[in-house]
Amino acid sequence: MSKSIRKQLIDALSQADGQFLSGQSLADVIGCSRTAIWKHIEDLRKSGFELEAVRKKGYRIISKPDQLTENEILLGLETESMGRHILYFETTVSTQIIAHQAAVDGAPEGTLIIAEEQTGGKGRMARSWHSSKQKGIWMSLIIRPQLTLDKAPQFTLIAAIAAARAIEGVTGLEPEIKWPNDLLFNGKKLTGILTELQAEADKINFVVIGVGINVNQNEEDFPPFVRGLATSLAIESGTNISRTALTQSFLKNFERYYHLYIEKGFAPLKIIWESYAASIGKNIIAKTVTGEITGKAIGITDNGVLKIQDHGGNIHHVYSADIEI
Ligand code: BTN
Repeated sequence: MSKSIRKQLIDALSQADGQFLSGQSLADVIGCSRTAIWKHIEDLRKSGFELEAVRKKGYRIISKPDQLTENEILLGLETESMGRHILYFETTVSTQIIAHQAAVDGAPEGTLIIAEEQTGGKGRMARSWHSSKQKGIWMSLIIRPQLTLDKAPQFTLIAAIAAARAIEGVTGLEPEIKWPNDLLFNGKKLTGILTELQAEADKINFVVIGVGINVNQNEEDFPPFVRGLATSLAIESGTNISRTALTQSFLKNFERYYHLYIEKGFAPLKIIWESYAASIGKNIIAKTVTGEITGKAIGITDNGVLKIQDHGGNIHHVYSADIEI
């Protein structure tokens, strides 16, 4: 099926704002036959569009499928740079892979790569990330901070704050953040963040922030090994959530806190992050590559590094670990 006819048809019907457009006028505008219009209308119905067809009047859109296309995201987006350049995929292996290549090819700061489905979604620690079609938000954002490498972990924490704020604003649910980057609700995972970067010597070239938000899954949409550990906003709120509104809100919040960070440093963000922290003040086990540390999580440093006080009173700085609370 020709994409350009499909896209022109969606654009024309969307712009008509619920008014009927005749098959002949659509065919004239798009430059194809009425039969082609009819065939594409049938294909759109199969893709989830609800379309009314009335004799002598033509066609009109009743509702569109919940899609995260460039048009949907840009309409009502309140940012200067974040998400202003979008690469959209119905399906891709991983938005992280596309983002990395786009960044190497010079994509500007704020470029967003977003997919309805990922067939090889990547999680932290070489795990996979289950990304079922149109059920969640699977996106990667490119930023180009003029900073040194040691600042990189802070972007994960800024993204976690932005995701928490967006979820609160759109759904009213109040998630917790488990260091460094998991958003939980009632102890189950709602959102994961994967930060990857390219640097030269000590200077960051670009950072790719990958965010996966479980939005409209039912329990059965999660693979069996994840059930019980993961949850979605729809499960927790009892209603379907607009992925577009949530994506727009994440981008707005990320831009706000990113600017605050560039202007004022990490100190104000540390306070906000700690207000969401699930693990601070609790006894935890940190599983690092060099072994386990058991003790009380007492806070994070100004660089976003986790501080744990063990039972002997020694303070450990943890840069990367899996945390059990
Ligand atoms: C984690 O908690 O392990 C991090 C999960 C990150 C998943 C997101 S989904 C969008 C982006 N593309 C990927 O392949 N991974 C990240």
